[in-house]
Amino acid sequence: MTRENTPQLSMRLKGKSAVITGGASGMGRSTVLRFLAEGANVVVADFNQATGATLMQEAEALGFAGRIVFVATDVAVENDVAAALALAVDTFGQLDIVFNNAGVGGAIGPLTETTTESWDYTMDVLAKGVFLGIKHAARIMRSQGTGGSIINTASIAALSGDAGPLVYSAAKAAVVSMTKSAAVELAQERIRVNAICPGFIATPLADGGKPEKTRENFSRAQPWPEYGQGDHIAGAALFFASDDSVFVTGDALVVDGGLTAAGPELSRKFPRTSGRNSRVAGVTKGSTGEKPELKSL
Ligand SMILES: NC(=O)c1ccc[n+]([C@@H]2O[C@H](COP(=O)([O-])OP(=O)(O)OC[C@H]3O[C@@H](n4cnc5c(N)ncnc54)[C@H](O)[C@@H]3O)[C@@H](O)[C@H]2O)c1
Repeated sequence: MTRENTPQLSMRLKGKSAVITGGASGMGRSTVLRFLAEGANVVVADFNQATGATLMQEAEALGFAGRIVFVATDVAVENDVAAALALAVDTFGQLDIVFNNAGVGGAIGPLTETTTESWDYTMDVLAKGVFLGIKHAARIMRSQGTGGSIINTASIAALSGDAGPLVYSAAKAAVVSMTKSAAVELAQERIRVNAICPGFIATPLADGGKPEKTRENFSRAQPWPEYGQGDHIAGAALFFASDDSVFVTGDALVVDGGLTAAGPELSRKFPRTSGRNSRVAGVTKGSTGEKPELKSL
C-alpha cells in the first residue's frame, strides 16, 4: 500500500485513539493502515513481534511515524490486554476505539479428536481475548466519561454449522453473544459495542501460505465476483469506529459478499428452475390441483 492508493482521506477518526489487537497481519493490518489514514493514533497489539516490526516500518514509510506504536501482546493474558489498552492512554492521552480482532484457527479436525487442551487454547484466544478487551476498554472508557466504540471480530462461523471448525465456531458465537450483552450494559455510558462477521477473507490466516490460489478460490466462494480482502473489513470497522454509526450498538454486521445470503444455494443446485439462469418462468400452484403456468425462456 502506498500513499497514492490509500482510500480517500476523509479524516473521520481525526484525533481519536485506537487499539487494534491482531493488528500486525491480515484484516487487522488493513484496519491499522485505514485508521491511520483517517487520522487516528493507533496501538497495534499483536503476539507476532516480527510482523509487528514490519508493519511499523511500513507505517513509518507512509508518513505515520509518531501516530503508531506496537506492543507485544497475548490477548489471552489479562495483564497483557490491560497494558496494551493503558498504553493508548499513556501514549496518546485517551482511548476511543478498541478493535478486538486477534485470532487463530485453533482446534481443527473431527470433534471426536478434539482435545480439551486445543479447546482451551482456541477459546482463550478467541473468546476470552475478546472478553478481556471489552472489560478493560469499558473500564478506561467509563473513567474518561466520553463514550467509545468497541468492535469485535466474530465470523460467519458463528451463524451456521458448516462455516468453520466446531470450537472456532463456538468461540465466534460467544463473541456475537458478548457483543450484544456488553452493548446493553454499556449503552448508558455511550460506549457502543458491535461485531463484524467476516466471510472468506484472503489473509495469511486463511491462505495457508498460498495467497494466489486462495484468492482464486475465494473469488468463487460467494455470489460477489471478487474475493474478500482485509480492506473490506477495515471499511466495516471504520463505520463502527466513526460517528457515522453513533446510533448502532449490539450489531453483528455480516461482511461476506453475499455468502450467507446465498444460504442453500438452490440456483446452483437446481439451475433449471431457480435463479437468474433459470430456463423457465411463470407461476407454480403447489398441491391445489391447478396446473402451473410456465413458459420456457
Ligand atoms: N480470514 C478469514 O477468512 C476470517 C473469516 C472470519 C473471521 N476471521 C477472524 O478475523 C480475525 C483476524 O484474522 P485474519 O484473517 O486477519 O488473520 P491473520 O492471521 O492474518 O491475523 C491475525 C493476527 O492475530 C494475531 N494473534 C493471534 N493470536 C494472538 C494472541 N493470542 N494475542 C495477540 N495476537 C494474536 C496474529 O499474530 C496475527 O497477526 C480473527 O479473529 C479471525 O478469526 C477471519
